[in-house]
Amino acid sequence: MVVGRWGIPSVAAGGGVDALLPTGRGHCVLVQKDSLLPTTRTLAAGPGSEPDPDAAISVRGLVKRYGDRAAVDGLDLDIRRGEIFALLGPNGAGKTTTVEVLEGYRKRDGGDVRVLGVDPARGGRRWRAQLGIVLQSGAGDSQLSVRELLKARASYYAEPRDPDEVMELVGLTAEAGARGRTLSGGQRRRLDVALGIVGRPRLLFLDEPTTGFDPEARRQFWALIRSLRDLGTTMLLTTHYLDEAEALADRVGVLARGQLAEVAVPAALGGRGTAPAVVSWTEDGVRRSAETATPTAFVRELAARFPGEVPDLTVARPTLEDVYLKMIGQVPEGGGTAAAVGRRGAERSQGVSS
Ligand SMILES: Nc1ncnc2c1ncn2[C@@H]1O[C@H](COP(=O)(O)OP(=O)(O)OP(=O)(O)O)[C@@H](O)[C@H]1O
Ligand SMILES: [Mg+2]
Repeated sequence: MVVGRWGIPSVAAGGGVDALLPTGRGHCVLVQKDSLLPTTRTLAAGPGSEPDPDAAISVRGLVKRYGDRAAVDGLDLDIRRGEIFALLGPNGAGKTTTVEVLEGYRKRDGGDVRVLGVDPARGGRRWRAQLGIVLQSGAGDSQLSVRELLKARASYYAEPRDPDEVMELVGLTAEAGARGRTLSGGQRRRLDVALGIVGRPRLLFLDEPTTGFDPEARRQFWALIRSLRDLGTTMLLTTHYLDEAEALADRVGVLARGQLAEVAVPAALGGRGTAPAVVSWTEDGVRRSAETATPTAFVRELAARFPGEVPDLTVARPTLEDVYLKMIGQVPEGGGTAAAVGRRGAERSQGVSS
């Protein structure tokens, strides 16, 4: 056994046994590597290029219209196997629409899409059994208990996870006998996540999975996602929490007006890694700050002016939120509305929507 990137135990590549290890905080982490290993190749989506057969998800020129309005307007994207990719964007940017096309829930109007090598419009039962889906709208009310719901879902899959272990993973063991409709908002969301992973998916779609989670539940969810990644699970996540994207994602993509404005590792988005730093300190009782491209040299000079510590010294670069808001602000009008929020519950069915 090896310790993963965040200190979460995991079995090295090739391990065959799925097991759960207690974290000591009433939750468990998964400890098996799936046979799917991340590729190290950098995948570059480009307009006009062929879909990448090695990618978990490969999209070229995706178009989805509602009426005469394009919610997704020529999207190119590759997500490599084993990667956590976070799709960011304001309300109405087209995130859920994109994810639902990839899941096979929505028909597209144009473009080429491959998910685990298959066109989602033609994905059959075997293809679907490799996907885990956590919808933005959630599972809804249910008369069944948490355990019954998980058992029922598990029965669809050839090699499901043990429902009791999954409840432990998401922190719902105490609610095992509770009916779905009696759960709190955050507990329901945990149930959605549990239902999404019980089938042991190779590819997991998470559409705003932590909305309604309390801070501790979010941290536990992050640990779960990391342990799933250590097992080789590919994940496409949408979120409005930029700290979540920063904590979890290998790469982030900013969607605006149905197109990807930029794809980058979180530390480099919007030129963040090379942006000037702001050095702040207190001098003669006054708070001062300066923007500099060479913070080390600046702080060295500053330090020479003070006999000891530089009072209240901070050195800051733009946060992911700073660059994200700047990018979104630069997008011409029409990039987002709140109209899409909460629409999905009523219209969702098992079949493909138009
Ligand atoms: N079923 C539908 N019928 C008509 N328009 C729709 C439908 N679903 C979404 N839209 C529109 O498509 C656009 C993209 O919506 P989508 O739900 O994909 O956005 P989103 O990025 O997921 O937003 P949010 O962050 O609010 O979840 C919005 O303008 C929305 O109003
Ligand atoms: Mg959405």
